[in-house]
Amino acid sequence: MYKYDEVDHRLVRERVEQFRDQTRRYLAGELSEDEFRPLRLMNGLYVQRHAPMLRVAIPYGHLSSTQLRKLSHIARTYDRGYGHLTTRQNIQFNWPALERVPDILAELAEVEMHAIQTSGNCVRNTTTDAFAGVAADEYLDGRAYCEIIRQWSTLHPEFAYLPRKFKIAVSGSADDRAATQVHDIGLHVVKNDAGEVGFKVIVGGGLGRTPLVGKTIREFLPTRHLLTYLDAVLRVYNRFGRRDNKYKARIKILVQAMTPEAFAAKVEDEWAHLKDGPATLRDEDVAHYASFFTDPAYEQLAANPEAFTVPLVSDAAFAKWVARNTRSHKQTGYRSVVLSLKKTGVPPGDITAEQMDAAADWADRFGFGELRVAHEQNLILPDVKESDLYEVWQLARQHGFATPNVGLLTDIICCPGGDFCSLANARSIPVAEAIQLKFDNLDYLFDLGDIDCNFSGCMNACGHHHIGNIGILGVDKNGEEWYQITLGGSQGNHTAIGKVIGPSFAQADVPLAFEKIMNLYVEQRLAGERFIETVRRIGLEPFKERVYAKSH
Ligand code: HEM
Ligand code: SF4
Repeated sequence: MYKYDEVDHRLVRERVEQFRDQTRRYLAGELSEDEFRPLRLMNGLYVQRHAPMLRVAIPYGHLSSTQLRKLSHIARTYDRGYGHLTTRQNIQFNWPALERVPDILAELAEVEMHAIQTSGNCVRNTTTDAFAGVAADEYLDGRAYCEIIRQWSTLHPEFAYLPRKFKIAVSGSADDRAATQVHDIGLHVVKNDAGEVGFKVIVGGGLGRTPLVGKTIREFLPTRHLLTYLDAVLRVYNRFGRRDNKYKARIKILVQAMTPEAFAAKVEDEWAHLKDGPATLRDEDVAHYASFFTDPAYEQLAANPEAFTVPLVSDAAFAKWVARNTRSHKQTGYRSVVLSLKKTGVPPGDITAEQMDAAADWADRFGFGELRVAHEQNLILPDVKESDLYEVWQLARQHGFATPNVGLLTDIICCPGGDFCSLANARSIPVAEAIQLKFDNLDYLFDLGDIDCNFSGCMNACGHHHIGNIGILGVDKNGEEWYQITLGGSQGNHTAIGKVIGPSFAQADVPLAFEKIMNLYVEQRLAGERFIETVRRIGLEPFKERVYAKSH
């Protein structure tokens, strides 16, 4: 994992002191609300419905056990004993006192963390596949490139005040697991005919009030040109992006207005000045960053040891958990474990300080002291020996981490909604819980199989409802909370924006609508057909008829 050098340490420490002074001046009345806002936003501090909210960067979702223990300490000491993992692999604290935020930032700096550029109109945390480096199907480990992008974009003077926020995602395997098509820039690894690895560059994707799937503006970018090309894209956006209307300011609107072809041509023009210039990555630069992401000291193990296969046969609950909550690993004899944060009754993504401590201990004891945050708002132990899985499962169960529902209907991605967020039209957490309760029969849930259910409390789409196979959007009707359902959205290589099935539902009716949708799926599916495949094959009409039929 990346280790700060002296310059990084100094930069982060200086930033803490700078913010300490800014906060002091604000609290003393020397800075107005308007003057303080951009300063706090550059440090990840929002002001929410109840209290400030601090978003801490977890670069590309990579976390050490020491860092996780620090986050647990912060949750306990400065907040209400928990944090919230976000869809962009960060963590948020919902209840810090403003005057203590500089101390939180100082604590973070001790473990090489910060909140810089986690909000504001700048380049945000670069996200990637949570299984980067351990996935069996990877062409390229994207983490070194994520770190390069992070260093390039952090406090980049030219891109500190973009028209709007800017999000980059990197996927290093053929199967896109980083939602590259719904980011401002998606970098999806490809191999060309000569067998060289490079990036397909996708721009202008995004959700929010104008959901759009990104457009490919370059089929193959050799990796050494990464930064010069990103510079060119950002320059075109910085120059032509709209600043007069914040709802039209994202790059997706510019790409759409110019057409992807014209936008690509502008980028090529700009790139002509930058290509092969000083920001070109040399082999030694890449090797330097890659050296932080080498394999840990894996043992040479045989697959399927008895300590794994015996309980797999004798204990059905363990087998269910292995099937849903573990992933194959590039190293024989190891698997990655997904610690589910989708237990019924707990807001999706919330993690308590006790859970953080426990997970940090397991990362040390069963792995190499590393964890990952998945954009589905779960926590991952990337390297667990198969022979340890039974014990890890038992421990995870004791700590409320082992709901075997990863990828299933109740593994809901959900924004904080009306309980916390001042922009919300409706609450999301109680409705997510009602759905989880409705589908609490594990056998049925397993039978339904892979279904992404995503939930946002308003059209800002923090919960990515557009790309859920089933999406829920909170809407306001004359001051009341209503919920619109979309079907057919998906992420990954076949990213699609879901379509609204019809009039919205009152809160109490959402679980029933879900039940009707699932019943129809079960009736209509072909052997082995996943929910999204059935929706694609039969279309929305039969679902509409079923859901809105007078009696069923
Ligand atoms: C609680 C306070 C929050 C507020 C006030 C807030 C506000 C917003 C706003 C205004 C946008 C739309 C900006 C735009 O598209 O231009 C947005 C987008 C987004 N938010 Fe939040 N958010 C909050 C919490 C969260 C949380 C907890 C998460 C993660 C679970 C999250 C994840 C996202 C993501 C991923 C997007 C981008 C959607 C896209 O791809 O366009 N937000 N947020
Ligand atoms: S989607 Fe809306 S309600 Fe949910 S967190 Fe984002 S801004 Fe708030």
